[in-house]
Amino acid sequence: MANKQVEPSLFIIFGGTGDLSRRKLLPAIGRLAASLSLSDNLHVLGIARDTRQDDASFRDLAMESMIASGLRADEIAGFCNRRFHYQTIGNGAPSDYTQLRARLELLEQQHGLPANRTFYLAIPTASLGDTLSGLASAGMNQSSGWVRIVIEKPFGYDRASAGELVGLIRKYFAEDQVYRIDHYLGKETVQNLLVFRFGNPIFESLWNRDHIDSVQISVSEELGVGTRAGYYDKAGALRDMVQNHLTQLLTLLAMEVPPVIGADSVRYEKIKVLRSMAPILPGDVTFGQYSKGAIRGQPVPGYLEEIGVGASSTTETFAALKVEIMNWRWQGVPFYLRTGKRMPRQLTRIGVQFRNAPVCMFDVDGVCAVKPNTLLLTLQPDEGFSLHIGVKKPGSPSDVKQIPLSFKYRDIFDDIPEAYQTLVLDVLKGDQTLFVHSDEVLEAWNLYDPLLRWKYKVYPYAAGTRGPAEADRLAISEKELFENF
Ligand code: BG6
Repeated sequence: MANKQVEPSLFIIFGGTGDLSRRKLLPAIGRLAASLSLSDNLHVLGIARDTRQDDASFRDLAMESMIASGLRADEIAGFCNRRFHYQTIGNGAPSDYTQLRARLELLEQQHGLPANRTFYLAIPTASLGDTLSGLASAGMNQSSGWVRIVIEKPFGYDRASAGELVGLIRKYFAEDQVYRIDHYLGKETVQNLLVFRFGNPIFESLWNRDHIDSVQISVSEELGVGTRAGYYDKAGALRDMVQNHLTQLLTLLAMEVPPVIGADSVRYEKIKVLRSMAPILPGDVTFGQYSKGAIRGQPVPGYLEEIGVGASSTTETFAALKVEIMNWRWQGVPFYLRTGKRMPRQLTRIGVQFRNAPVCMFDVDGVCAVKPNTLLLTLQPDEGFSLHIGVKKPGSPSDVKQIPLSFKYRDIFDDIPEAYQTLVLDVLKGDQTLFVHSDEVLEAWNLYDPLLRWKYKVYPYAAGTRGPAEADRLAISEKELFENF
């Protein structure tokens, strides 16, 4: 990814006092400031409807959020006091946007800033349309510097609504101004997939249907739906995780080698993967929903008992799918996508199972002792990887044991930056490599939209288990590699 500079600018957060801002954005900005990754001239303007907030109370809120995330007051106090400002957007009337524009111009004048502006829309999807048109009506979609707009998922509810959202954004902003966040792309271990594949030719030469038998991308979460039932019950695992995070992992794993690592070439290769996907067959999907159970010995309620979930909800909290990529590199290799809430523990892991030896040379009492080589990439927690290879068991003439050659990030590196820290810095640098192109959004919906219309059965699974048994067929054959939590 190109090493671009951070230029002086205004970072304007719509939803500045909201949950995302407090939990992720403000701490990310604080960390960047503390690590001196920010230009001397970055100013942050929080925007919300609340007319009672002012510059001072927003600075306090920013400090609190940063301290809650582990930063020390002395690392960030000066930064917050000098660079944080607040502006209400009232009810979003045209005059509110005119006033906002006047405030931006005033801040730029006071602090000697060029008109470089990032608008981070940390607001619900339903408010996006009004905000985008409000910005445009006051002429803020352009400036004498640059204007960038940052948007959070969900990018649509289905193919049609995603198309509408893309159209709405295009009305006011060009694609190179738009930064769609899929926070998985900000994770160090996810970015490492590119280095792993394209910085290590030994793997790249094996990375195809001739050598790989199957691939599994598995995101298990220990948490349930928590306080987000209002959103989640309308979304479900397919929309919440598969259409975006798991599909992003899939495209990074399967893409062709780009000419360079840059936004246009990487995103183009990812889009090509999505265009090569075979339609998903109903028999290649299993959905589940957690019922009550126990995690780490503690009883937890079932999905239907969660606050805000309808008593007869059939929303899936688990999804397992088999997908296939119809191109020369991957034809015939199943990719298994699996995700669920209330699993035994949190684990995001990719398994690549290589083809077994064509002839078995080592057996014990007639049973082949050679197992396929497997590569496990653990994206979180306890980040690292292990390559499982066969080793002769000492003392036995022909028994073979699978041994991991492994690496853990924490043994080598001190600190792994949080995803939002990386993504905010990339927005400030103007590097779109880790952001989702509108064509990726639409192609992913082309793949999954038909599933939304099926009348599928949702199988129950007890919280604390690995999902319904009906999904067992949708996994790589060496299941114990994933079961070995
Ligand atoms: C979010 C989903 O996008 O990703 C959540 O809406 C999910 O439901 C979360 O829990 C998982 O992210 P992470 O970084 O904890 O793996």
